[in-house]
Amino acid sequence: MRLHENLLDLTHLSFLHARTFGTPDYASAPCETTLDEARGHFSLTRSVMPTRLPPVWGRPTGLEGVDAAHIATSTFVSPALHEVHVRFHACDLPEAGQPQRAIRTAHIVTPETATRTHYFVRHARNFAPGDEGITAFMHEQLLAAFQEDIDGLEANLAAYAPGTAAEISLQADKPSLAMRRWLKRRAG
Ligand SMILES: [Fe+2]
Repeated sequence: MRLHENLLDLTHLSFLHARTFGTPDYASAPCETTLDEARGHFSLTRSVMPTRLPPVWGRPTGLEGVDAAHIATSTFVSPALHEVHVRFHACDLPEAGQPQRAIRTAHIVTPETATRTHYFVRHARNFAPGDEGITAFMHEQLLAAFQEDIDGLEANLAAYAPGTAAEISLQADKPSLAMRRWLKRRAG
């Protein structure tokens, strides 16, 4: 559950991933939520523009050091799957006239016991698909960021065991709360 909550509001990029791929403006960017109770799909879209992309996105897309748009949607699809869709474009031209630069990430959650889970991650991109140098660079950068997720989640679980702390929820937590209620109803 916490793994899904960690993904549903990627404002954690600005804080947890400050040393790897977070940028300060991500958390304050406008966001839109979509709650599809019938299908159990809950998502949040953030549009950060103009922004300066961190090297992990800027270098492979050729948008390093220029004003760029970073549009990310994170979606809870099922207890086993969370999808992140991200697209980038330069701000000085209309998006439609630019080459596509999109990344899709599947976060695949497979619990092993009540307190342990496997966490599989697959990244796909639709630009420079055959460039092994870009693949290696992104792999190295993203692996460092995922270690931050592991450290953050473990520290969170150690400090706040379920039911031991009052919770403060903000507007951006809407999809997380809807997802949690949906899971609770299905489990009941
Ligand atoms: Fe993360």
